[in-house]
Amino acid sequence: VVLLTGMPGCRKKTLEIDTSPPYLRDLAEQLDFYIGTAVGYGSATFPNNSQYMKTLKREFNAVVAEYTMKWGTIRPDRETFNYGPGDELIKFAEDNKMMVRGHTLAWHQSVPAWVEDGDFTRDEAISLLEEHIDKVVKRWQGKIREWDVVNEVIRDGLTGQPGENPRRSNSVWERFIGEDWVEFAFRAAAEADPKALLFYNDYGIERKNRKQDAVFALVEDLLAKGVKINGIGFQGHFVSGNVPSEEELKANLDRFHDELGLKVQFTEVDIRIKKPVTAEKLAQQAEEYKRVIKVALEHPACDAVLLWGVDDGHSWINSSFPEHGAPLLLDSRFDRKPAYYAARDYLLAEIERRQGGEEGEEGGEKEE
Ligand code: G3I
Repeated sequence: VVLLTGMPGCRKKTLEIDTSPPYLRDLAEQLDFYIGTAVGYGSATFPNNSQYMKTLKREFNAVVAEYTMKWGTIRPDRETFNYGPGDELIKFAEDNKMMVRGHTLAWHQSVPAWVEDGDFTRDEAISLLEEHIDKVVKRWQGKIREWDVVNEVIRDGLTGQPGENPRRSNSVWERFIGEDWVEFAFRAAAEADPKALLFYNDYGIERKNRKQDAVFALVEDLLAKGVKINGIGFQGHFVSGNVPSEEELKANLDRFHDELGLKVQFTEVDIRIKKPVTAEKLAQQAEEYKRVIKVALEHPACDAVLLWGVDDGHSWINSSFPEHGAPLLLDSRFDRKPAYYAARDYLLAEIERRQGGEEGEEGGEKEE
């Protein structure tokens, strides 16, 4: 709200934002689909920013903790399990009928110093990892539908040279345990909550490339060993103007579903725009968001798209890629951007198409 006052006879002028229905979550629910978002924590976001909270409740039917379910928040020291922030998100999600994704049980980042700088034997590190996963998964058993058990094992910049090691070397788990830490993590999660869906999550794999090939090989090998993996999370941190085509995105989902039988999701979508942000670039971003949602909705093994943030003002992009901006559907005033309307219009059209289809064609069935 911007109040122009002070001058005699000045009228209050407010820059109202559009909060009219229909809302993304209601349309998604009619399509048996989830449109969700990552949720921050603290005074600027959840649970203290009222506009952030109103928008979150109004527009989304799935949530994922942006960082409060990671080691960095839960494990300040060896003895402590700080579930508080995660508990708050779980209760909020239950109160607002939202699906919850768990993120993430094992990753090379957000590792507290007592682990990163620790001196653990292989067996000690395996016990540490298994204990963490067992306790955290059981804490929210039955409340978290699916977990990103392992995040970002494969490194960037693969050259395809013979004998090249595709794995990250900067992972404390790789260092202490060795490559089989991934298997230990998935097996621990499956034992802790046999009903939870277990995902491998990564970025830069949304089109056919060496990194995607390495992820495919990693997951294929684990599945061959009988490790329970239900799905692949394609994070979808895109740069506007370089978002894969509809055909590429579909082929990407098809590869992991058709060949490995996996569920597929876009788990952390944002589409950052090279500054200066213009109306033309926002229009291009709108088309790109529609493209991602269309591919996801049409895929029988995909039932969710989650954005990595509620609004442009609270996006990790602002600090990590300062030369880019405006990555999400809502601007920093929580007002709707062209991308929001493009997403909403597509969901509306898809509902009408399926209603029309009920008289005749197939359409929209999702695999269990
Ligand atoms: O807000 C607190 C502040 O109160 C506290 O004093 C400070 C001290 O550590 O932490 C602040 O929270 C930080 C938070 O970002 C908000 O800025 C956390 O430390 C920091 O770890 C956190 O970074 C997150 C990062 O993952 C590492 O966990 C980002 O929010 C989050 O967007 C980013 O998300 C990752 C996904 O998990 C995996 N895929 C890539 C994606 C982007 O990097």
